[in-house]
Amino acid sequence: MNTSFASGIKLIGSSMVFGAVAVGLMMSAGTLGAATIKGSKHDLGSGGTSQYSSAGAPTPSTTEVCVFCHTPHGANTAATAPLWNKSLPAAGSYTRYSTLNSTTIDGTNVAVGSVSLACLSCHDGSQAMDVMINKPGSGGYNASGASLGSTSAGAAMTGTPIPKLGTDISNDHPISIQYGGGGWNSSNTSDGAVAITNLRDGSFNAGYRATINSTPVWWIDTSGGTAGARDKTDIILYTRDAASGAAGVYEPFVECASCHDPHNADATTTNVSFMRISNTGSAVCLACHNK
Ligand code: HEC
Ligand code: HEC
Ligand code: HEC
Ligand code: HEC
Repeated sequence: MNTSFASGIKLIGSSMVFGAVAVGLMMSAGTLGAATIKGSKHDLGSGGTSQYSSAGAPTPSTTEVCVFCHTPHGANTAATAPLWNKSLPAAGSYTRYSTLNSTTIDGTNVAVGSVSLACLSCHDGSQAMDVMINKPGSGGYNASGASLGSTSAGAAMTGTPIPKLGTDISNDHPISIQYGGGGWNSSNTSDGAVAITNLRDGSFNAGYRATINSTPVWWIDTSGGTAGARDKTDIILYTRDAASGAAGVYEPFVECASCHDPHNADATTTNVSFMRISNTGSAVCLACHNK
């Protein structure tokens, strides 16, 4: 656990509360192995529990789970999400949080992208959820994507403002936004714990940096997983081109999957809504915001 995260937690209240939060985090980390996407709301196959599986038209003709998002071959390389099996929406089609001109916002937006665009390929409701590039079985490849059903297209997501966020995401937590209140010190190239002085705004926690395949990655360490290592129970920041400055200079950004792990459907604990960690005591929020 990094120290700034610990101090963020302590601010919630008494040591009693701190103890309860710590136990909650440990429990969710301990039970994560049991969490599975199978049968969850992200299981769009016939065994799933999402609006698509239960009310989709036509009824899903596959028991496969992963295929709605991933394919082992012929994936969409325009997507940052791994081995992505769907076409992406246009990055420019969204109304952003920044259009509200919050009096306190500091960070700069870049185009809606990275893993967020992959989430929005279902959650903006603009394309049928069963449109995929490589359908199950032999000969299912179609570069521009095709519906699972052979005769009719499946359903697009419904339910505004959630779970269908739509293309107006100004009422959602900002995404594709610089971490740290803007002005991340991109000349800081040391791996390990990042000094808070490398963030423009000290009301954020500083987190960690590592280099993987010559590319910098950043995350906020939580009590789950191994201390100082990037785990899926950490709050993941996504590497993107800096909002200002030379192209190819990378900075950490907040995206949908900073807070969410799309596979983590542990409905038996407080870790609901595919969160990376339980939000007990607002632990998700306090991992980043030093409040
Ligand atoms: C609803 C969409 C969706 C479904 C269904 C899905 N995934 Fe993913 N998966 C994603 C996204 C988005 C990412 C990128 C997440 C990130 O940035 O951490 C990802 C990342 C991954 C990764 C790499 C990161 C990690 O968490 O290990 C693996 C491996 C993976 N998925 C495997 C699977 C398998 C196996 C299945 C089926 C059992 C599956 N996924 C089903 C959306 C999905
Ligand atoms: C991954 C890190 C991260 C997490 C987790 C996170 N935030 Fe944020 N949040 C940010 C960043 C970065 C901004 C943009 C701030 C800026 O640039 O001034 C932001 C912006 C905001 C704003 C708008 C601030 C403004 O000045 O208009 C609010 C309110 C907010 N977050 C609340 C929350 C709440 C509530 C949670 C928990 C549900 C949360 N955040 C979780 C990183 C995070
Ligand atoms: C293949 C389509 C698809 C993709 C891609 C997808 N989702 Fe979903 N998501 C769904 C469906 C379907 C539901 C269930 C909606 C319902 O039943 O009302 C859902 C529900 C959710 C929920 C609510 C779960 C609950 O318990 O209510 C969250 C959170 C979520 N998705 C986040 C994400 C994030 C974050 C990403 C990207 C990392 C993502 N989704 C990508 C289809 C998708
Ligand atoms: C800063 C953290 C953060 C980011 C970024 C974020 N979410 Fe969430 N999201 C949450 C939290 C926390 C909840 C649980 C809220 C609750 O319990 O009502 C949630 C809930 C949801 C839900 C379920 C809402 C419900 O009550 O049924 C969906 C769907 C969802 N998120 C999708 C997304 C998508 C898609 C993105 C990116 C466009 C995204 N989220 C980005 C923190 C975040």
